[in-house]
Amino acid sequence: MTIVPLDTFRAELERLRADAEAAMDAAADEVALEAARIDFLGAKSGRLKAIQKSLGGLAAADKPAGGRHFNEAKAAVTACFEAAQARVAGAGSECRLDAIDVTLPAEPVRLGHMHPITRTIRRVQEIMGRLGFESVDGPEVEDQWHNFEALAIPAEHPARDPLDNFYLAVARGADPLLLRSQTSTVQIRVMENREPPLRIVSLGRVYRPDTADATHYPMFHQVEGLLVEPGTTLAHLKSVLRMFASSFLGHAVNVRFRPSFFPFTEPSVEVDMEWGGRWVEMGGAGMIDPAVLEAVGYDPDSVTGFAFGLGVERIAARRYGVEDIRDFYRNDARFLRQF
Ligand code: PHE
Repeated sequence: MTIVPLDTFRAELERLRADAEAAMDAAADEVALEAARIDFLGAKSGRLKAIQKSLGGLAAADKPAGGRHFNEAKAAVTACFEAAQARVAGAGSECRLDAIDVTLPAEPVRLGHMHPITRTIRRVQEIMGRLGFESVDGPEVEDQWHNFEALAIPAEHPARDPLDNFYLAVARGADPLLLRSQTSTVQIRVMENREPPLRIVSLGRVYRPDTADATHYPMFHQVEGLLVEPGTTLAHLKSVLRMFASSFLGHAVNVRFRPSFFPFTEPSVEVDMEWGGRWVEMGGAGMIDPAVLEAVGYDPDSVTGFAFGLGVERIAARRYGVEDIRDFYRNDARFLRQF
């Protein structure tokens, strides 16, 4: 057996080490690095393995030094491989950072907000609350007593015409129920259950079979106010309405009364408010009619009070500059997002 000189062995080892370091440094990705690992560090036919076998050809005296050189070279190649491995893995994560640009502004989260009608209702409740009016609710499906009879609207009155109301196929006793056509129903419900003094406000939906146009819709909202206190006059009513409108708009608002008729108030007035230099009709009002006080069991000789009913859509349309009330119900996010 030929003896391999120690110098030759060392020279081969150095070459292998240089080749291995070059190959591993050059590996651009995990696949190339794995090929280099198998080539140099492979357990079966790697080049280090082959050179390890040639250790046996050294002279016995050279074997300890040869073994030391071999171990040094193997440790160096292994360290080089591990460094390359870390580099390739790092490059991978750099790629992922590239794919997600963390400096880009985030997709905005779409936040919803209150519908302009709901916001108007809350604001009216808040302002009226400060004037001492408690906010109460009533049912949208009503009986004829609360929607008509107790409000002094008798059976033959045109307001009860089936063409002007949404009567339901459901009846209570002989009378069919209906979707309430006004929030004045709540006046009756409150007075039936409580004793004066009273200050209440009720906001909610009402229904009338109107053809939808810019100012009408088969469903809309009213704000009903009711005050029952000794010595109440139309002047108090006007003051409350003026204070309400002025708080709502944030500046003094003029209120005008025009003579009118409602079966459940006497005298009755139309309420106009001056918005942007124009008189706009906002609803009706008046002193509670004695017939109504009697219907709820009050003594009309000793009890006085006023009531008013305004259109919430009208208030909201003025406030937000909306020309067509149908826009409130279209649920078009582009419209609603403006408020
Ligand atoms: N309920 C009446 C309407 O819907 C308005 C109103 C309320 C009038 C209270 C007088 C008093 O037209």
